[in-house]
Amino acid sequence: MAERLDLAGKHIVLGLSGGVACYKAAELTRALVKAGATVQVVMTEAAEAFITAVTMQALSNRPVYTSQWDARPGNNMAHINLTREADAVLIAPASADFIAKLVQGRADDLLSLLCLARPAERVPLLVAPAMNREMWAHPAAQRNVAQLRADGALVLGPAAGDQACGEIGDGRMLEAEELRDELIASFQPKLLAGKKLLITAGPTFEAIDPVRGITNHSSGKMGFAIARAAQEAGAEVTLIAGPVHLPTPPHVHRIDVQSAQQMLDAVLPQAPLHDVFVATAAVADWRPAVMNEHKIKKDGKKLAPSFELTENPDILAAVARLPDKPWCVGFAAESQDLLTHAREKLLRKNVPLIVGNLGPATFGRDDNTLVLVDATGHRELPAGDKLTLARELVAEIARRTAGA
Ligand code: CTP
Repeated sequence: MAERLDLAGKHIVLGLSGGVACYKAAELTRALVKAGATVQVVMTEAAEAFITAVTMQALSNRPVYTSQWDARPGNNMAHINLTREADAVLIAPASADFIAKLVQGRADDLLSLLCLARPAERVPLLVAPAMNREMWAHPAAQRNVAQLRADGALVLGPAAGDQACGEIGDGRMLEAEELRDELIASFQPKLLAGKKLLITAGPTFEAIDPVRGITNHSSGKMGFAIARAAQEAGAEVTLIAGPVHLPTPPHVHRIDVQSAQQMLDAVLPQAPLHDVFVATAAVADWRPAVMNEHKIKKDGKKLAPSFELTENPDILAAVARLPDKPWCVGFAAESQDLLTHAREKLLRKNVPLIVGNLGPATFGRDDNTLVLVDATGHRELPAGDKLTLARELVAEIARRTAGA
């Protein structure tokens, strides 16, 4: 897949304070540059004890700033100039000490100085804490982080896990790609702020016996991309997923299920709690009428077993029948006559919007073509990767549900 340029045209000031997690800042710089950003690295003296400015300059392709006395800028005001071109300031890693400095508005080195001097209303401050779990749990650190948030900074992580000191707990800095994605998300317009979205995704698996079942080739990628795009747009997202091999998008609440019946049982109580329901799951239409308790064995006479199928509940139609139903979006994966089938589903399932795609051509792929079909007509979205399409669909849903 072509590299996505989600940060094209963005200028990021990446600040490093002292911590072992500085090693991740090298990868982070590469990831941001690969996503199209220009990166200006600024390091504290403590950061330089963990990683060299030489490395950071090579990766960012720009001279690194380390001192407020740096005489290179014509006006000798690096602390002012550095943020005037910036679209965001990201501190990664942010040590406990550096966070304390931010909270107190202290400004005795270049990085803290530029954070204080940045035009806060247009240059957001993102902070990725990295510290030992006892330091993170300390009331002083928690107080500082709460104040940092109250002052408008976006605090990213930290994650739980193995720490450089050998202990295990909260305080690990997020990984480079997670930080890149958080930064990308921070730039998305918050079109769905305050809205709650419920999404189904992936195939279902209908057991024949304990080791076999009926399923399909749906990868779940489209549904997961919509979950990510909706979360980036400020929505609270619940994702009900059949068996898929995909990581949960950040900040998305995920419920895993296997069968269509389990998916329905998970969806029905959730649906009235959400504003919008997007059914992307490729729900198996039929399931074996009975599940064999034990593995079906060959009978030795070359006779294949036969079993009856029974129709699965239609989850989308069931939600659309609820008295307090959310605004429903269905998908139609077809192998031919896409528009005709999509229109027919719009009516039969009684939903305001059906998103059509040519199924077998898109299963498992990263790109897709979508057609939006509603009661008044249809509109094709330009072909693109699934996340780009998901963002367009999210914008469309936001437009159509505005004021609802
Ligand atoms: N859907 C659902 N529950 C089902 C079947 C489908 O919620 N048991 C939803 C899908 O998630 C999708 C839409 O209904 O949003 C259309 O699914 P599709 O399988 O394409 O349509 P069907 O209703 O199964 O019709 P057909 O099999 O005739 O294509």
